[in-house]
Amino acid sequence: MIQNETVLVLDFGGQHNQLIARRVREAGVYSVVLPNNTPLEEIRSAGYKGIILTGDPQKINDDESWQYVRGISELGVPVLSICYGAQLLARSGGGRVESEGQEYLPTLASIENGSRLFKGLDENQQCRMSHDEYISIIPDGFKAVATTPNCSCAAMEDEARLLYAVQFHPEVMHTENGVKMLNNFLFEICGCRGDWEMSSFVQASVENICGQIGGKRVLCALSGGVDSSVAAVMVAKAVGSQLTCIFVDHGLLRKDEGDMVEKMFAENFDINFIRVNAQKRFLDRLAGVTDPERKRKIIGEEFIRVFEEEANKLGEIDYLVQGTIYPDIIESGGDKSAVIKSHHNVGGLPERMNLKLCEPLRDLFKDEVRRAGLELGLPEDMVWRQPFPGPGLAVRCIGAITVERLDILRYADAIFREEIENAGLGRDINQFFAIITDMRSVGVTENVRTYDYTIALRAVKTTDFMTAEWARVPLDVLAKASNRIVSEVKGVNRIVYDITSKPPATIEWE
Ligand code: XMP
Repeated sequence: MIQNETVLVLDFGGQHNQLIARRVREAGVYSVVLPNNTPLEEIRSAGYKGIILTGDPQKINDDESWQYVRGISELGVPVLSICYGAQLLARSGGGRVESEGQEYLPTLASIENGSRLFKGLDENQQCRMSHDEYISIIPDGFKAVATTPNCSCAAMEDEARLLYAVQFHPEVMHTENGVKMLNNFLFEICGCRGDWEMSSFVQASVENICGQIGGKRVLCALSGGVDSSVAAVMVAKAVGSQLTCIFVDHGLLRKDEGDMVEKMFAENFDINFIRVNAQKRFLDRLAGVTDPERKRKIIGEEFIRVFEEEANKLGEIDYLVQGTIYPDIIESGGDKSAVIKSHHNVGGLPERMNLKLCEPLRDLFKDEVRRAGLELGLPEDMVWRQPFPGPGLAVRCIGAITVERLDILRYADAIFREEIENAGLGRDINQFFAIITDMRSVGVTENVRTYDYTIALRAVKTTDFMTAEWARVPLDVLAKASNRIVSEVKGVNRIVYDITSKPPATIEWE
């Protein structure tokens, strides 16, 4: 464990575990999220100050889970169980959970303010209920400390064993004083100090990396994105010249991007930086390929080859730094969610090259990575870069990839991004870019017939990139971008704006 005061959020599914972890950190207590099959021994030895079990609208008659929760409740660490977690805790202690207790609205709960969980709160509290089943018999040693008209046990506690459970969701806004309740758990019950901040995370991580890596040598596959850049700089702070960053320019980057990344690292950091210009290799292998998954696969494979060749030139290496962040773990199936697109990062490399992994950001959310980046001295424009997919423009070039089409796309994309920035919308919209479609249509320029490509513009607002809303970019901004693209970029005579959200569309077109 990298912090001396950490609360564990045990993920029993549902969408809220990230939010809970975030609320805990906002209170100044470091938190990590782990899956609900993490070995008890691992949890015991980590010395957590408290454990929060999250909720999911799953049915309770899952024997394995409640037996596991019994083990958790016997660790002697304060536990707060939320929603489904509360039912598991009840069941694990010999209580009963029954169906047909549905409540899906913010409800007024009557609380017992003698409970430390509700310290400082009035007797009536609006709480967000969201459950099908309910605790009908409270286990021995527990008492109900909140009720609603529908639910005789909206919260229960066993003070002596520091076990607490709430049927409602304190982490969401609809529970008016939910943050206060969570803070009561952290400070009144777990005895946390609440002195965690990003600078201490960075410092502790750097120390931790030093300990992990010792005198060994480390490689980093740098994409120039926020995550890999922050991870690289953090590792460089820890082990200096033992780190070498390899930046593979696959020819699928945005306008001037390769040069910008190289310059940024050269100007700001003393890091061994190797840029590999492998454009031709990638484009040769992609020639004529139109299938999106095939493109991803080829790029992934070629990337590994190029990287391996470069690494071999360097000699003995033990570690690979990856900028994995918490949402990547979820997206790659860590939470059993379906894999929609095979994301190309550096998957497969560590095993192939027999490298150990160093992933200093794996517990963080995106905005926290940005804060860590600022803390580490990365420039603002680097820290606020929008996400860019590993396979780059290949998945924004619908159909076959050619140098000519990539150049058109690069130019159009640069104009659109510039106009969004000029309109002051750059921070407000989370991802915005152009796509070159494989459609050509008839147009007219200065009385001459044209038969040129259609460029699509995409801009979305999202917090987690799992769902996204198309951005309502003001029409005059779209008009300006459109006029500029059709007049400045040769080979384009039509612009469309994508007004689909995710789902059903994805953010990228391929
Ligand atoms: P989608 O298109 O799946 O994208 O809605 C969600 C987020 O992931 C990015 N993305 C990728 N990132 N490799 C990556 O590293 C990929 O293959 C890939 N495909 C999509 C996308 O840009 C968006 O931010």
